[in-house]
Amino acid sequence: MSTVKTVADSNYIHGEDATAQQVYNQRTVEQDAALLVPHLRPGMRLVDFGCGAGSITCGLARLLAPGEVLGFDMSEGAIERARALAEEAGLDNVRFSVADLNELELPTASFDVAQFSRVLMHLREPQRAMQLAFSSLKPGGMLAACEAYGSGNWTLGPNAESIMLFLRVLQEENNTNRTGPDQLIGGRLVGLFREAGFIRLESKPCYSAVLSDSKAVAALVQAGWSDTFRQILIRHGINAQRCDQLLEEILIWAESEDSVAAFAECAVIGWKP
Ligand SMILES: C[S@@+](CC[C@H](N)C(=O)[O-])C[C@H]1O[C@@H](n2cnc3c(N)ncnc32)[C@H](O)[C@@H]1O
Repeated sequence: MSTVKTVADSNYIHGEDATAQQVYNQRTVEQDAALLVPHLRPGMRLVDFGCGAGSITCGLARLLAPGEVLGFDMSEGAIERARALAEEAGLDNVRFSVADLNELELPTASFDVAQFSRVLMHLREPQRAMQLAFSSLKPGGMLAACEAYGSGNWTLGPNAESIMLFLRVLQEENNTNRTGPDQLIGGRLVGLFREAGFIRLESKPCYSAVLSDSKAVAALVQAGWSDTFRQILIRHGINAQRCDQLLEEILIWAESEDSVAAFAECAVIGWKP
């Protein structure tokens, strides 16, 4: 039986963790939604599914003003942070709400743009979320998604193999128990767009900017360590002593000036006919 803690019916391991919210909130529209930006025009109405603490959403709201931007996330803490960020930035065209994407219902044909950014990888039924995006878009509307593609990850530096081992076990957990993030979903993203009915697809491989910082990666590992990651490793045959050693090795990797973290992603955009 799984001991992974999840909020709602999601595989998102970090739940309400403030460190994870802080790390992901360094993401920006310019770096993390680069494929989408050239297609945006002021006045467009956008929905950001699984918006987290809102740094990308607020960036989008700035570009689309006076167009309305809605951000949904299941984490109350993230939504509070997102609201504070919007207020601080003086944005009056963005609204944030707590919602589980597995249950969210939206009026049909009501948005020009929709986006998922590192969110589909945490859903047990990404197809359902893609259908929600499709139905909520107006004809001619556009969906953007950017998701992890772990097959393209590489790391350098002392103990670089320890972080790769950790990531491999995390993916095995998803493959066998269907819990934890699906770090390979980026490789299926084009297919998910096609299946949902999107056309004129464009895709771009990229590396996550925030996860290029080994210290940020280690902060995420540490944040989920005692609640979830350690249990996952043990479930996959790594004994308690080796687990503790593995965390130490990852922290040494994170601190070294010689370390490189390359976390691959696949970004796709497509249009509703
Ligand atoms: C890695 S963060 C990404 C946040 C933001 N989109 C970004 O790119 O910076 C994943 C987010 O997905 C949210 N999430 C996961 N499963 C969800 C669900 N079922 N419903 C709503 N939000 C969910 C989490 O709460 C978390 O804020």
